[in-house]
Amino acid sequence: MDIVEQIRTLCQEKNAIIMAHYYQRPEIQDIAHFVGDSLALAQVAAKTDADIIVMCGVHFMAETAKILCPDKKVLIPAPEAGCSLADSCKATDLAAWKAAHPDHMVVSYVNTSAAVKALTDVVVTSSNALKIVKQLPKEKPILFGPDQNLGGYINRMTGRNMDLWNGGCHVHARFSEEALLQLKEQYPNAKVLAHPECKQSILQHANVIGSTQALLDYAKQSNSQLTVDNNQFIVATESGILHEMQKACPEVHFIPVPAEEDNSKLSCNECEYMRMCTLENLYDCLLNESNEIVVDEAIAKDAIRPIQRMLEMS
Ligand code: 13P
Ligand code: SF4
Repeated sequence: MDIVEQIRTLCQEKNAIIMAHYYQRPEIQDIAHFVGDSLALAQVAAKTDADIIVMCGVHFMAETAKILCPDKKVLIPAPEAGCSLADSCKATDLAAWKAAHPDHMVVSYVNTSAAVKALTDVVVTSSNALKIVKQLPKEKPILFGPDQNLGGYINRMTGRNMDLWNGGCHVHARFSEEALLQLKEQYPNAKVLAHPECKQSILQHANVIGSTQALLDYAKQSNSQLTVDNNQFIVATESGILHEMQKACPEVHFIPVPAEEDNSKLSCNECEYMRMCTLENLYDCLLNESNEIVVDEAIAKDAIRPIQRMLEMS
C-alpha cells in the first residue's frame, strides 16, 4: 500500500476525520475528508461524530477544534505549525489592553491562542467578521484584534471606529502593490480577489474581498459566465487556495500576486507554517495518535463561550 492508502485505512480503522485548510499542500487537501476555511473547519469540528480529528492546519485551528470537542482526540501532524498573526497578540498584552478600556467589548479573530479567546467576548473569522460586527450594539465601543488589516476593513465597511490591535499576518502583509498593478496592466480584464488580511494598498484594487471560502465561491459562481478572453483572476491570498480554485474551475487562469521581495519571479506566496504538514507526518501522527492537542480546562471553559457565540451569530 502507498502512503495515501495507508492513511485512508488508518482513518477507517480509527474512525478518524482529516480536516484541512485551503492553504495546505495540494496532496493534503486531496486526502482530507473535509477542506475548508477557518469558519467551516470550526463548524465541521463542532458536528463531527468521528472519534479522532486530525487537523491539517496551524495550531490555533486544532486548538479551536479541541475546545469545541473536548471529548474527542484532536491531533495535529505538525505541532510546531504556529501563526505569525496569532503570535502577534499575547494573552497578557490583551489583558492589559482590556484593563485600560474597561467599557469596551473584545472581538478577536479566530487566529488567536485559546488564552486570548478566553479573554474575548466574541470570536470572528474572515467569513463572518463583517456580519457579526454589524450585529453588535452601535453604541458599544470595541477592541478588535489581532489583525489590523481585517479590523480596518471592517471599520471602513461598517463606519465603526473599533480600536485595532497592531498585529498582522506576515504572508498577507508582504503582497506587493507594484506587482499587483503590473499584473492588472498585463491582464486588464482580470478580476482581483483579495483576502481581508491584506493591506489597504492591496485591498483598494480588489473587485472582491473575502475569506478563502468567499473567494473560491466567487470564482466558482463566475466560472459559467467567463469567456476565453475574460477568464482570469488575480489572487491576493496564500497560494494554497489556487489548488482548489483550479480544480473547481479548470478553464480559468488564476494568477497569484507575488510578495514584495519576490518581484522578479511571479512565484507563489506560501505560509511556511501551513506547509509543515506533510503526508509523512500525517501518517505518523495518525498511526501513533501523537501530537494530541491539550487545552487547559479553565481556559477552555472561558474560550468556548465566544466561539459558540460566533457560531450562533454566523
Ligand atoms: P480564512 O480561512 O478565514 O480565509 O483565513 C485565512 C487564514 O489566514 C487562515 O490562517
Ligand atoms: Fe497565520 Fe498568515 Fe499563515 Fe494564516 S497565512 S496561518 S494568518 S501566518
